[in-house]
Amino acid sequence: MQLPKAGTIEIAPSVLSADFANLASEIKQVEQAGVKIIHLDVMDGHFVPNITFGPPIVAKLRKYSTLVFDTHLMITDPEKYAPRFVEAGANHITFHIEVVNKPERLIKELHNMGVTAGICLNPETPVDDIKKVAPLCDMVLVMTVHPGFGGQAFMPDAAEKIKAIRSIVGPAVRVEVDGGIDPETTPVVVSYGADTLVAGNAIFGESDRLAAIEAIRTAAK
Ligand code: DX5
Ligand code: ZN
Repeated sequence: MQLPKAGTIEIAPSVLSADFANLASEIKQVEQAGVKIIHLDVMDGHFVPNITFGPPIVAKLRKYSTLVFDTHLMITDPEKYAPRFVEAGANHITFHIEVVNKPERLIKELHNMGVTAGICLNPETPVDDIKKVAPLCDMVLVMTVHPGFGGQAFMPDAAEKIKAIRSIVGPAVRVEVDGGIDPETTPVVVSYGADTLVAGNAIFGESDRLAAIEAIRTAAK
């Protein structure tokens, strides 16, 4: 399982809005809809005011899915815990620039462990902070809500940063967007240069997941 090469639009359903008591079957449903990536939101109650799950859950889910595990670490100490998520079966690890002093080192470590690496920036974090490291990543994640919860309103100003990031990384690096993505906001972020669309509420908040994914796909065209 590897992050698809840049150049295609991919939808990455976020499990945050799924039924946590039935995660395996929830993931199966979106897998059947043809997505290649599932977005796993890891929260530590410290970097963000919410707590989700850790490596043991990822390891259990690995047995039920062949999707790319796009693991978004919203935790204060990604340097310490990233290897644990890789061992559990994560394929791609995204960490936040706000909490890592030596991002180059962590990116290299992730690559050495055989997974792809991503850097993420919060809505208030300037693009300048990731300018140097973004080209070293396989995917850059732009938050368009304050991280911590699903179902929040899309922040247009934060989305504008996608344009600058796309021009820094060029066409070979994926630019992922996370927060308030639905059929209405999708055309905006795609026009700015995003190619990987995380959607939680817009997919798992709908009873027909297939139709929900199709609606985002159509909006991205
Ligand atoms: C928020 C998470 C997101 C979240 C997005 O902190 O990083 O991945 O699930 O949810 P929606 O798509 O509902 O805004
Ligand atoms: Zn996320």
